[in-house]
Amino acid sequence: MTILEAKRVGKQFAVKDSASLWKKKVFQALENVDLRLDSGRTVGVVGESGSGKSTLGEILGDLQHPSAGTVLYKGRDVRSLTKAEYRQFRRNVQYIFQNPKESMNPYFTVEKILTEPMQVLLDSYDAASARRRAAEMLGRVGLAESALGKYPSELSGGQCQRIAIARALLLSPEVIVCDECVSALDVSIQAQILNLLKDLQREFGTAYLFISHDIGVIHYMSDEIIVVNHGHVVEQGEGAAVIRAPKNDYTRTLIASAFFTREAARCGAL
Ligand SMILES: Nc1ncnc2c1ncn2[C@@H]1O[C@H](COP(=O)(O)OP(=O)(O)O)[C@@H](O)[C@H]1O
Ligand SMILES: [Mg+2]
Repeated sequence: MTILEAKRVGKQFAVKDSASLWKKKVFQALENVDLRLDSGRTVGVVGESGSGKSTLGEILGDLQHPSAGTVLYKGRDVRSLTKAEYRQFRRNVQYIFQNPKESMNPYFTVEKILTEPMQVLLDSYDAASARRRAAEMLGRVGLAESALGKYPSELSGGQCQRIAIARALLLSPEVIVCDECVSALDVSIQAQILNLLKDLQREFGTAYLFISHDIGVIHYMSDEIIVVNHGHVVEQGEGAAVIRAPKNDYTRTLIASAFFTREAARCGAL
């Protein structure tokens, strides 16, 4: 089932013109992107820093408005949803960001971090069952129930990322936008989190928009890959095909540099 669609989505920003103190110029951060997020599938978005990946993720989650094109939620323009439908959209489209600690209130315990979104976004809420669900979900992401009483500052980056995943999943979302969600973690923890996300996708049928600058991570996660460069989609297709037979030079460069990094690490040069 198709949950979210982007149709010819574009984004322009007004930025300062370096040639003049008071003039502004238009910067095209994203142009003409079409994509579809289906239940249980992952669309990977890859490109170097500044290529427009986060802008695309934020437009799909309605954290930014597109300057062109439309976002459809279950076939309907997000802008045309009623208030009640929009609340459903907010609950059903969740985010996991690069630095989970920054998205958590440092004065909240893990219990409060996990239960507060349920309190705000679920139609029926009762504190005892929310706490029980939070404790169960902690188990699913590989943490002990005792973490409920801790504060983010008492947890490692990997543990915080698991809590961010648990927080998103507790709302039973249809889509999760994962924006560089393993980029700040050690490689061994990265693998654990990626496998956890895959297992949870199999179990819950969630659609992922998986954003990363790392084509290795994107290859591992994605059914479909979109390669963006300076806001343009330079290649889009079935995951294995894009990696095996890239049609675009920029994709080839990304693949070659990932291969170089891996080989250099293997030889101990990095
Ligand atoms: N609010 C903004 N105003 C002006 N330029 C922006 C704004 N947000 C992002 N940009 C620019 O748009 C481009 C794409 O940014 P972003 O989507 O964050 O890229 P990525 O996530 O691929 O690193 C960058 O060049 C960035 O500087
Ligand atoms: Mg980004």
